[in-house]
Amino acid sequence: VKSSRTEGAVVVRPYEQEDEPRVLELLTMALGSGPVGNRPPEFFRWKHVQNPFGPSFLMVAVADGRIIGLRAFMRWRLRSGERTLNAVRAVDTATHPEYQRRGVFSLLTRSALEALTEEVDLVFNTPNERSIGGYLKMGWVRAGAVPVSIRVRRPIRFARGLGSVRDSATPVSPPPAIEAERADDVLADEPRLADLLVEDGHRDDRLKTRRDPTYLRWRYGSASGLDYRAVRHSQGSSLRGLTIFRVRPRGRLWESTVSEVIVGPGDHRTARGLLRDVAQAARVDHLACHVPAGSAAAAAVRRSGFLPTPGGIVFTVNVLRSGLSPSPTDLRSWALSLGDVEVF
Ligand SMILES: CC(C)(COP(=O)(O)OP(=O)(O)OC[C@H]1O[C@@H](n2cnc3c(N)ncnc32)[C@H](O)[C@@H]1OP(=O)(O)O)[C@@H](O)C(=O)NCCC(=O)NCCS
Repeated sequence: VKSSRTEGAVVVRPYEQEDEPRVLELLTMALGSGPVGNRPPEFFRWKHVQNPFGPSFLMVAVADGRIIGLRAFMRWRLRSGERTLNAVRAVDTATHPEYQRRGVFSLLTRSALEALTEEVDLVFNTPNERSIGGYLKMGWVRAGAVPVSIRVRRPIRFARGLGSVRDSATPVSPPPAIEAERADDVLADEPRLADLLVEDGHRDDRLKTRRDPTYLRWRYGSASGLDYRAVRHSQGSSLRGLTIFRVRPRGRLWESTVSEVIVGPGDHRTARGLLRDVAQAARVDHLACHVPAGSAAAAAVRRSGFLPTPGGIVFTVNVLRSGLSPSPTDLRSWALSLGDVEVF
């Protein structure tokens, strides 16, 4: 009888490839469908196997011959000035509904932390309201909330649909046509990308994803089902800027999520031009964006009619190596793009 089972009956072990179908079932049961619908195996593999920072650290909990818990830490590389930090991000976590509130999530998370503590500098994540309490109990710190700015394009439709963004409503209108190149095409054949990335955020000591062309191609080019698009601006032979976005439903609304705005230092004019092109590329209800505070892109976002929204995406951190500077538990130490926090 399930209700009589004790915690001692739960075994934690590393994930094996044969677990995939059962793990996807568990994730769907606990979390519903994901950012690309019904959790296709390709998306799971993109996220946990093909990541250029390395395959995820995955553990499962087994009880009564079933997989009843999953814990996933994605490998992530951060940069701060010239330094590289080894991070992991705590992402997919799920406990089978019949086994919740019995410490499975805590057991899995503690076991994973223990295994990684030697090689990893910090853990970060954007937990939901169901898991945040558990993380805080295990030593995580709330660094802050990543603010999201919105630019409304179709005010009446936006006002009507606003109330639906938190429920499971879906748009009544078909997806808008998108007039922009596919990100995987742009990222595959843009030889000037590496130089632009070096310029962008060059003198920034804040913590940020170590972005290189390989990372961008994986993140925005090869994620199955996400359909990222890119707009680039050139001047003569040099690449001045690149922005990456995708069109997604948000409740009943259609949103252009602007994931990256990459320009040279101080070049807010190029950033504004890119944002203008994104706004024109698809007839969405609104655009959403977050770029590092104080950057040229941030100035452009402000001047392009984006307005800050209340709340934001809760960002939590667990520092495993002492003495890190700037302090990862303060959101002001981070230079994040929306693409760093959406999807995962
Ligand atoms: C979130 C989830 C993984 C927690 O799993 P779990 O095995 O039940 O968690 P634990 O038993 O280890 O709980 C640890 C602590 O988390 C908090 N917690 C867990 N479930 C909670 C709930 N439903 N409501 C409020 N707090 C909760 C509690 O503080 C709990 O400690 P306590 O039981 O001593 O009070 C599980 O509820 C789940 O799969 N939810 C659906 C999927 C999901 O939302 N995942 C998070 C994605 S970021």
